[in-house]
Amino acid sequence: MSTSSPSTIAILGTGSHAPGRVLTNDELSRQVDTSDEWIVTRTGIRERRIAGSDEPTSSLAADAARAALADAALQPADIDLLIVATCTADMPMPSTACLVQSALGIGEHAACVDLNAACTGFVYALEHAWALLATGRYRHALVIGAEKISSLLDWSDRTTCVLFGDGAGAVVLGPARRDNSGIVDVRLGAIPGTADLLAAPAGSPAGSPPRIVMKGREVFKFAVRGMEEVTRELLARNQLAPSDVAFVVPHQANLRIIHSLAQYLGLPAERLVVNLDRFGNTSAASIPIALDEARRSGRLTPGDLLLFVAFGAGLTYGGALVRW
Ligand code: ACO
Repeated sequence: MSTSSPSTIAILGTGSHAPGRVLTNDELSRQVDTSDEWIVTRTGIRERRIAGSDEPTSSLAADAARAALADAALQPADIDLLIVATCTADMPMPSTACLVQSALGIGEHAACVDLNAACTGFVYALEHAWALLATGRYRHALVIGAEKISSLLDWSDRTTCVLFGDGAGAVVLGPARRDNSGIVDVRLGAIPGTADLLAAPAGSPAGSPPRIVMKGREVFKFAVRGMEEVTRELLARNQLAPSDVAFVVPHQANLRIIHSLAQYLGLPAERLVVNLDRFGNTSAASIPIALDEARRSGRLTPGDLLLFVAFGAGLTYGGALVRW
């Protein structure tokens, strides 16, 4: 723990990692009764990455975190808070965060914890890390979204197995190094009574591993509503207009959901960061992977206002405004 005084907290670096194995829609069409045409039209997804048996969530997370640390020009010893947002931890205990800590050589002074808000996990983790850093008792946080969501898929269920992919994205948070940069606001929520719309219940028959079951059409409606509401509230309470947003980095679940949000905000497609065509829905990893791609491709300019917005099982939802 450091004793620094509270200051503006900014994203100091980003990183991401995806497994090398690419699974295309055509390959899936040979496994289940689906087609590239159906998947692309209904979701926008063309391919996704699938982690091998030697690539647990913690190793995807560690690779993304190494890249984020390098980008921030910081050392593992500088990190005193590590949060991994995941619903596919390597095991129930210890936390994935503790495994990443060991893999990176982060010291024992660091607090390490996992957080599960499903696909909204990264935005939830950002809020938690921001709040802890704002106390001044921590100085630099690694916030990672990492998932091996393929481990929760029923590969015979065409309504779910075509949607998801594996990967990890990470950011380093710490005292802002530039004027006009930093986290502006975060808003989180969860909708009571919606747990059965998207879940990975313990296996049936008894003893079989948990598998994702989803009422897709209903999730779709809640997703659109939740993302619109959280965006409207975030902008309003910060006296901002949609036109102030330079880029929306949305959760990458379905291109139709993303387009509906863009239409609601009146923003053109080029202001949306979209990579689900190549990664599918990587759950808590999707926003930090998309952010890292946008940053590395040179799309982001200092001072840009970014909007992260997500929804997921719970149902949970969340949004964040970040000045780049
Ligand atoms: N290939 C071909 N046909 C399919 C497939 C498939 N992969 N999946 C479903 N179908 C069929 C259905 O059986 C149905 O057939 P029927 O009309 O004969 O009954 C038809 O296609 C239409 O199905 P719908 O479910 O109505 O299709 P919809 O247009 O709603 O698209 C989808 C389905 C893509 C799942 C959409 O509802 C969606 O994206 N929902 C949101 C889901 C989501 O984002 N989940 C992740 C949340 S984040 C988290 O926390 C993990």
